[in-house]
Amino acid sequence: MLDGKTAVVTGAAKGIGKAIALAFAKEGCNIVLNYHSSVSEETIQEIEACGVKCLPVQGDVSDFKFAGDLIKQAKKEFGSVDILVNNAGITRDMLLMRMSEEEFDCVINTNLKGCFNMVRHVSSVMLKQRSGSIINMSSVVGVMGNAGQANYAASKAGVIGLTKSTAKELAQRGITCNAIAPGFVETDMTAILSEEQKAAMLDVIPLKRYGTAEDIASVAVFLAKHTYITGQVINVDGGMVI
Ligand SMILES: NC(=O)c1ccc[n+]([C@@H]2O[C@H](COP(=O)([O-])OP(=O)(O)OC[C@H]3O[C@@H](n4cnc5c(N)ncnc54)[C@H](O)[C@@H]3O)[C@@H](O)[C@H]2O)c1
Repeated sequence: MLDGKTAVVTGAAKGIGKAIALAFAKEGCNIVLNYHSSVSEETIQEIEACGVKCLPVQGDVSDFKFAGDLIKQAKKEFGSVDILVNNAGITRDMLLMRMSEEEFDCVINTNLKGCFNMVRHVSSVMLKQRSGSIINMSSVVGVMGNAGQANYAASKAGVIGLTKSTAKELAQRGITCNAIAPGFVETDMTAILSEEQKAAMLDVIPLKRYGTAEDIASVAVFLAKHTYITGQVINVDGGMVI
């Protein structure tokens, strides 16, 4: 179903983003792989080994102009932009009382404004095509909040509002927009947590295991294939939020 389509994945050098890029490559999509600082040659080769093309593009999604250039490059290289996955994200955890303005701003700028920047620029391409699938990475934390993550939770809750509004605005041209809310997935982002914090997490996961990047990637592929699902937040969290 997705063979020959173009998928743009932001923050895809590692973790969930890399797994999503690979999953779409396995479906036959050409990949525009955005990365922030560096991407390994092996990652590019792994994607190309699926028999598709991979265009790596370095840049910061919180930069409005860069987001526009990224979409332009994707369209120029592959002729269309069929799937956009807004995966790039950061944390700067701190208790609210001690959180600096910088810690708040940089998380909002990357996670929420970055997502807006990409959606804003891809929408004109998808509106002309009269098709497209946008998938935004939220988090269970955006749904239920978390002490020490006011900035991150606000950004991920914002992503849900952005997703639902985008879905309503673009639906008339056959474009879908959904969000995925992962629970606890073992990546570099969660590797900074202590063993005690990780054990406490496991306690509140009914399925009693951490998520994998592949758990999230397979849902992204599912959403890109299903053209009658829009404006939804799909929790992929082992039952953390029921
Ligand atoms: N790991 C989890 O448990 C978990 C849970 C819920 C949501 N998420 C979300 O999933 C997404 C991927 O997270 P991950 O766990 O793979 O983390 P990760 O740190 O391994 O990957 C995040 C990627 O985003 C990139 N990035 C950061 N800022 C960027 C910017 N300004 N422009 C472009 N790229 C940028 C990083 O370079 C990195 O490659 C994030 O949006 C994160 O918030 C993760």
